[in-house]
Amino acid sequence: MSAYKSFVYVEEIAKYVGEEVTLNGWVYNTRGKGKLQFVLLRDGTGVIQCVAFKQNLSEEVFELTKQLTQESSIKVIGKVVASEKAPGGFEIDVTDLKVYQLAVDYPITPKEHGVEFLINQRHLWLRSSRQHAIMRVRAAVMKAIRDFFDGNGFKLMDSPILTPNACEGTSTLFETEYFDLGKAYLSQSGQLYAEATALALGKVYTFGPAFRAERSKTRKHLTEFWMVEPEMAFFELNDDMDLAEDLVEYIVQYCLKTCQKELATLERDITKLEKVRRPFYRMSYTEAVDWLVKNDVPLTKKVDGEDVEIRPFPWGEDFGTPQEEAIMEQFDKPLIIHRYPTDIKAFYMKRDPQNEKVVLAMDMLGPEKAGEIIGGSQREDNYDLLYQRIIHENLPEEEFKWYLDLRKYGSVPHSGFGLGVERVVKWITGADHIREVIPFPRMSYRIAP
Ligand code: 4AD
Ligand code: MG
Repeated sequence: MSAYKSFVYVEEIAKYVGEEVTLNGWVYNTRGKGKLQFVLLRDGTGVIQCVAFKQNLSEEVFELTKQLTQESSIKVIGKVVASEKAPGGFEIDVTDLKVYQLAVDYPITPKEHGVEFLINQRHLWLRSSRQHAIMRVRAAVMKAIRDFFDGNGFKLMDSPILTPNACEGTSTLFETEYFDLGKAYLSQSGQLYAEATALALGKVYTFGPAFRAERSKTRKHLTEFWMVEPEMAFFELNDDMDLAEDLVEYIVQYCLKTCQKELATLERDITKLEKVRRPFYRMSYTEAVDWLVKNDVPLTKKVDGEDVEIRPFPWGEDFGTPQEEAIMEQFDKPLIIHRYPTDIKAFYMKRDPQNEKVVLAMDMLGPEKAGEIIGGSQREDNYDLLYQRIIHENLPEEEFKWYLDLRKYGSVPHSGFGLGVERVVKWITGADHIREVIPFPRMSYRIAP
């Protein structure tokens, strides 16, 4: 790696103690007086204190260090010194310094700014220490996911984004004109195509953006988010739940191991994350409803835009955030709720042979108000039953012909799930809004920057 590098990074600085190195970066902060200037330099991998002593520098360069402003881009040449007093344990004894560009009036100053202001400055806000730490955890989560699947024999199979039909119901589709072929839709999920590739390759995962035209202004919804979706031939619901637990345990433990600094910057209580070890908890939807009724947790429903409470919680309704949070208060690890009512779940889910009223679905809820991080199921593998569901849901039969073919030519039990990357990053980082955990968030009321 270093063969073509004319400079070093802060994160590898320990290797160079006693040597003269070149660093590139941006000015995070400056202070000093008289003959001494301290420049905090950030280079994306870390922050290091650079000490400029008047006597070690030319007059011109020393003057330059005094003019540096927040976020000016600079090159620093100097000797690496181990120093207990310096933040991070090392500092640079500056011998030369060059300015790429002097920044004037950087809008984000160390004082407190409102989130509305910051989100409008998202292209710059990403440089702040908290946002920077969150983005590094995000990158670690992405890597953990890929490592987990690649290391367990899964093949990465990309599903298309432009599709002729709906996967997760028709109400949240973004549509666009598609030449002479009418309307195309942005994919809500790569699942249907993953089912086809799973029947070709056995174990696959698709990993990409998903689009939902969600109007809801919650802390957990984006209109564009990233989802990883494994799909496995011959997996039944229990195998699917086991895999989901393995994956989540792997992601959390990987972040604990590789993101210690970031989690410290975020002041995350990691003792809570350390508990995320298999086995997690499991209960059926029916057991969850019994618990809600016993504890008198009301259902809240929007009536004319107002939240109205309905007691007691009726079997057959979907859980909202209040129910999920009430259930999760008992648990310090994720919980899988399985076997939901058929009517509130997607058309492709397999009916439970033991009970026609429920499907072999499973959702994983995270602790600490993480909400639903995974949704999945065993898929309907019977041609006739799937066909009836497609008709029942008024889905265009013609567009689902290829999907039905999968039940015609060597149909097998198969299962899969989708994990929402941002939901997981929000939980692990403790960020209070999902917009902070994706570089450029897209919500019903925001498409810029
Ligand atoms: O539960 P969902 O809708 O399931 C599916 O899309 C299935 N086709 C997945 C499958 O079985 N292959 O979405 C899966 C996950 C949710 O549990 C949640 O973590 C996340 O995707 N998610 C969202 N994240 C952010 N913003 C949104 N609007 C989201 N909608 C779903
Ligand atoms: Mg879901």
